[in-house]
Amino acid sequence: MKTIPQDIARVLISTDDLQRRVQELADQISADYQDQNPLLVCVLKGGYVFLADLTRAMSINHAVDFMAISSYGSGAVSSGVVRILKDLDRDISGRHVLLVEDIIDTGHTIAYILDNLRTRQPASLRVCTLLSKPSRREIPLPVDYIGFEIPNEFVIGYGLDYAERYRNLSYIGVLKPEVYS
Ligand code: IMP
Ligand code: MG
Repeated sequence: MKTIPQDIARVLISTDDLQRRVQELADQISADYQDQNPLLVCVLKGGYVFLADLTRAMSINHAVDFMAISSYGSGAVSSGVVRILKDLDRDISGRHVLLVEDIIDTGHTIAYILDNLRTRQPASLRVCTLLSKPSRREIPLPVDYIGFEIPNEFVIGYGLDYAERYRNLSYIGVLKPEVYS
């Protein structure tokens, strides 16, 4: 057992609970997209750990691609400003696209990406997020697959960072507010 860094107030979602839930999501997605060879679009960087576990837990053929977006800088407060840092490698017209996100907070980032991808005429476009903070939502969004709904606290681990740190933790932890305020 690794020691918990001192900047972490508590573990919110344990490694076991994450793995169990990711397998459930993978089973559901595999059933829903049977024979559709979906394209899983991972939003970097936060989504990379979730995507890696999700894709290996799936039982159907699928492809992956990556998009990098900047919305927060290194801080903990949403600016609502979104920029594409890296676009998809391939055309998605006629493909069944599933956007894979680490967390939906205000919804600005996903709303921007959905608007952008929709113009490329995918056959379908759905969203899978590991975490959602419903109390923070500023833009109403239909989210098709949600791992966990969490309270309004800044969380790190399992791909999520604060100033590029803590992405490697195998659990989701709550960062002590004094670390970012
Ligand atoms: P939104 O545009 O406000 O929905 O923000 C979504 C993005 O903000 C996510 O992809 C994360 O990169 C980041 N974010 C939001 N909340 C947290 C958090 O609690 N911990 C780490 N990153 C977060
Ligand atoms: Mg981030």
